[in-house]
Amino acid sequence: MAGFSSVKGEVITFDDVVIVPGKSPVEPKDVELSSRVTKSIWVSIPLVSSPMDTVTEWRMALILARLGAVGVIHRNMSIEEQVGQVERVKSSPPSPWFEVAKSTPGEPVSQLLFRMAEAGVGAAVIFEGSAYRGVYVAAGPRSEFWLRKAEAVAALTTAIKPIPTIDEEGRPRVGAAVSPFDVERAKALEKAGVDFLVTDVAHLHNVNALRALRELSKQVSVDIVAGNLGTKEAVLDVVSVVEDVGGLRVGIASGSICTTGEVTGASMPTLTAVINAYEALKELGAENRIPIIADGGVRNAGDAAKAIIAGASSVMVGRMLAGTEESPGQLVSVGGRLYKQYRGMASRGAIEKRHAGDRYGGRSKLIEEGVEGLVPYRGSAAEVLLEFAAGLQAALGYAGASTIKEAWSARLARITAAGLREIKPHDVVLG
Ligand code: IMP
Repeated sequence: MAGFSSVKGEVITFDDVVIVPGKSPVEPKDVELSSRVTKSIWVSIPLVSSPMDTVTEWRMALILARLGAVGVIHRNMSIEEQVGQVERVKSSPPSPWFEVAKSTPGEPVSQLLFRMAEAGVGAAVIFEGSAYRGVYVAAGPRSEFWLRKAEAVAALTTAIKPIPTIDEEGRPRVGAAVSPFDVERAKALEKAGVDFLVTDVAHLHNVNALRALRELSKQVSVDIVAGNLGTKEAVLDVVSVVEDVGGLRVGIASGSICTTGEVTGASMPTLTAVINAYEALKELGAENRIPIIADGGVRNAGDAAKAIIAGASSVMVGRMLAGTEESPGQLVSVGGRLYKQYRGMASRGAIEKRHAGDRYGGRSKLIEEGVEGLVPYRGSAAEVLLEFAAGLQAALGYAGASTIKEAWSARLARITAAGLREIKPHDVVLG
């Protein structure tokens, strides 16, 4: 990233900066969002779902892969269960039309209904050539959901033409979380066909964890994304200790459900962690080889664009997807409104479930570093992705970038507290 560097000893967060508008070579809708999540894995929308037990199991991973992003299956379950989740994704068809049937204007309704019943879907999107003509929804208790989902898929398909994230054999891609100490799990996941592994350690810059990761990387051949990391030194250590690291997951204590910063006083906000990691990679001449995933606190496409301008190749999100139909969180009704449960992996509830503890130190650390809460229910993850992709294209358009790589040369600038107030709606009564 040009034009901004973190002052020694000072950290900045997404709200501390704005994107400096730059001369744009293309229209926002033509901004190319394809990017890498690991050394060898490309996505057409640079979004990765968090490995959390209220965010990513097979349903989430599948819809993300079908629409051009990718999911990371959480590890708060037995090895067999996690392997089963990966297999479920890998054995599913990669097309979003499997969940929402595609039809053409002249097709008789009886034939369409038959096809929908056969595919087990509740809605069909009607196209004439590539022009969207409407949605047909079979009556049923979930028809409103299907209508929204079908419309979202149609909008996505016409607006951004998603390219599914698939492997060489045409199967949806999926990642899975592991502890660097759990070689048995990593090997089982690799055997099941997982496309990449992501280490799930709150503070990977720890000699034991790094040593374990070095050993793990010798035992499996799929890409391993190492994290979480916050500083330049941590990145330099990981790259020197672990041979051929597949990617970096950066950001410490910025997550929406995270209390690490509050409880321990330690934190490296995601934006600064990306700046630090990019600086380290640049020093090594590896910024085009090792992708950075910005993890924690990404609330919208604007935050994602800031992380990308700082040097990230993609963002990892939990909260943004937790309220969707495809997340495993429980749906609850409060005062007539629908919500889904969302909790940190170091919250009491998650820790109580076996296997969660070791991310935050297991037996050596007994405090909670996350909270349990609710997020509004918001229909299919397809809608979230549509909004995200369109927003990111607009943001990069303002930045003057037509690709993710070009965005690394765009600029961020500091904003004052007064400025932050001014760029939000003000002096009107919001209706
Ligand atoms: P969000 O997108 O702001 O909700 O942040 C999600 C990220 O928070 C995850 O990808 C993890 O890196 C991090 N995280 C998950 N669970 C916890 C926790 O219990 N404590 C601290 N951080 C967590």
